[in-house]
Amino acid sequence: MTWWRRAVIYEIYPRSFADGNGDGIGDIRGIIGRLDYLAGTLGVDAIWCGPLYPSPQVDFGYDISDMTDIDPVFGDLADFDELVAAAHARNLRVIIDFVPNHTSDRHPWFVESRSSRDNPKRDWYVWADPKPDGSPPSNWTSEQGGSTWELDEHTGQYYLHSFHRAQPDVNWRNPELRAAMLDVLRFWLDRGVDGFRIDVLHMIAKHPELRDNPVREHPEPNPTDRQHPDYDTQWHVHDRMHPDLHGYIREMRAVLDEYSERTGRERIAIGEIEAMPWDAWVAYLGEELDGVHFTFNFNFIEAGWDAESLRGSIEAQEAALPAGAWPNYVLSNLDRPRLATRNGPDSVRVAAMLLLTLRGTPTLYYGDELGLADIDIPPAQWQDPLGRDQERAPMPWTARDNGGFTGPGVRPWLPVTAEYLSRSVESQLADEGSVLGLYRRLLAVRRASPALVDGDHEPIDTGAAGKHCLAYLRRHPDQTLAVLLNLGPDETTIELPAPGGVVLSSHDPVATTGPGTAVRLRGYEGVIVEIAQ
Ligand code: NOJ
Repeated sequence: MTWWRRAVIYEIYPRSFADGNGDGIGDIRGIIGRLDYLAGTLGVDAIWCGPLYPSPQVDFGYDISDMTDIDPVFGDLADFDELVAAAHARNLRVIIDFVPNHTSDRHPWFVESRSSRDNPKRDWYVWADPKPDGSPPSNWTSEQGGSTWELDEHTGQYYLHSFHRAQPDVNWRNPELRAAMLDVLRFWLDRGVDGFRIDVLHMIAKHPELRDNPVREHPEPNPTDRQHPDYDTQWHVHDRMHPDLHGYIREMRAVLDEYSERTGRERIAIGEIEAMPWDAWVAYLGEELDGVHFTFNFNFIEAGWDAESLRGSIEAQEAALPAGAWPNYVLSNLDRPRLATRNGPDSVRVAAMLLLTLRGTPTLYYGDELGLADIDIPPAQWQDPLGRDQERAPMPWTARDNGGFTGPGVRPWLPVTAEYLSRSVESQLADEGSVLGLYRRLLAVRRASPALVDGDHEPIDTGAAGKHCLAYLRRHPDQTLAVLLNLGPDETTIELPAPGGVVLSSHDPVATTGPGTAVRLRGYEGVIVEIAQ
């Protein structure tokens, strides 16, 4: 079984993880200092580090001005090399962001491209003439609000920016641009990275005629997504997801495969794509499984937090995946309100058990292992235009001062709140019953259980009495486990198909003994039961 199928991935938001140089902003040296926590104390297998590239930080690193260097805020290439070596020495894989859809407007490619209509790099970006009345080339709207088109007075054409106007979209139809992007992958593969999380992969090919998007009569803003209301006023069908992108993905994959074969270490591509019907979603894996290794599955963020929706979402992914493909699950990320905020604090423990017991690769967002909720920041103080600061607050390592995130007396870039201090790593390590204690036990049980790592998934019918429960078997030739999750507040009883013994409860640090075939669950409790073979 390849490493990434067994792995639990941990997402680090570098600005907020740990500050190694005392300037109030997290950095690479800070991450290096916490690798023992990740590999040892917590027990994850891979880290995905958000963007570390030089950037004006308009979109906090997703506006890149140099794709082959490190922003001084985070350190330098020597620090990065040390991070990779130190992670590998602890058996931790390193995944980094690759942002193929856009650059910063300060990137030298764009500076050249905008300098004149006949510059050799003009076609590296998406330029178009105004409509005869001078208006933008299409009606496309951006997540930040307003048009995706910005007029460049100097050359009289508009450039496309699917995000902020400081993030011009590149043109993947141009072979030289594609070659330059593939060289970026090679640069980081040569430095030893194990894979890439590929930003907005569904957006890299647009309709070549730049057709208007159909207007959406009844906009339904997604409450879990932080987008400007303008964004939702149309169906985003022509500004993204053009089928030509699958060919571009195969080109990326070929580069990764070449490195995997040459070095004997599998390098992976994870696509970040928006919610879409399952058949479109699996297309990113490629017809011959020659696309990305997997695309992040944000269904647990998008779907309702109730047993029926979750069951439907799990079964839909299982049914949609072609033979040989592998599922994955994500509970929170850098762009969405945290789990504890979306679904309430009662959901945290049972969600941990859900994430870490399903068939597939889980991705855990930093701080979720502490049960952190969003911080409250008034819009006037948002640093991110969409308010995503709320789910990006500094990690509380200790209960004092700045929570050990940065030095005492230093002003952290976002506040370390009293609530965060009360949930610090230090205090939770001292309490076996804490959320962190549960995560540690779950990760250890997962690692030691062939059924959780590699077993089949089989739903258990919980009947009318268990309508707030989600239950499934994980079957492996050497072991069968039942996972029983009560998402509601009331006690309930679930019948197992065969007797077994409780391995782990979300509520008790110490496992209780086997209950026979009837398992009584407290409100919001989850248990893992080993079924007698
Ligand atoms: C998705 C990233 O997660 C988000 O933070 C960013 O703003 C957009 N892509 C644009 O790069």
